[in-house]
Amino acid sequence: MKKAIILCYSFEGYTLQMATFIKENLNIDLHEIKPLDELKSKGFYKYIWGGRQVVFKKKPELKPFDIDFDAYDLIFLGSPIWAGTFAPAIRTILEDGIFKDKEVAYFYTHEGGAGKALVRGEKAINMFNSYIGSLSLLNHVKNLESNKNLIISWAHEMIESK
Ligand SMILES: Cc1cc2nc3c(=O)[nH]c(=O)nc-3n(C[C@H](O)[C@H](O)[C@H](O)COP(=O)(O)O)c2cc1C
Repeated sequence: MKKAIILCYSFEGYTLQMATFIKENLNIDLHEIKPLDELKSKGFYKYIWGGRQVVFKKKPELKPFDIDFDAYDLIFLGSPIWAGTFAPAIRTILEDGIFKDKEVAYFYTHEGGAGKALVRGEKAINMFNSYIGSLSLLNHVKNLESNKNLIISWAHEMIESK
C-alpha cells in the first residue's frame, strides 16, 4: 500500500470536512494549509478578495509546517474552487514545488461552477509531481452522505492503484 498524507486548504470548512472523511477511513494524517494572511470575514467581500487573488495568480505565504515528504508516495490534495480554479494557497504549494516527484490525487469542492478547474489543477500538479486522478464534489448539504461515500471509495482507488 502506498504511504499517503492529505493536504488541504479550506476557507469555510467544506473541503476540510471532505478531507476528514479520507483521514478517518484510511487512518492517515491530514494537514490543513493556512495562509499567513487570511480574510476574517465570510461575507460577500470574500468573493472580491478571493477573486482578485486568483486573477493575479497570487501565491500567498503559508504558515510554516513540518512534514517529511520523503515519507510519502501519495499526496491527497484538496481545494475549494475559486473563480474556476484551485485556491491561491494551493498555487503556492504546487508552483513553489513544496514537494516534488509525488503522486498527487486531487479533490475539489465547488458549487457547480468548476469550469476548467480540472485541467488547471492537473497542469499545476504536473509542474513538479504526477497527477494520478481527481474527484469533483458539489458543495451542498444534501450531498453530504453521497459525497462521503464518493470520496471514500475514490481514496481507496487512488491509494490501491499501481
Ligand atoms: C472567493 C471564492 C470564489 C469562489 N468561486 C467559485 C467558482 O468559481 N465556482 C464555484 O462553483 N464555486 C465557487 N466558490 C464556492 C466554493 O468553491 C465552495 O463553496 C467550496 O465548497 C468551499 O469550500 P470550503 O468550505 O472548503 O472553503 C467560491 C468561493 C469563494 C470564497
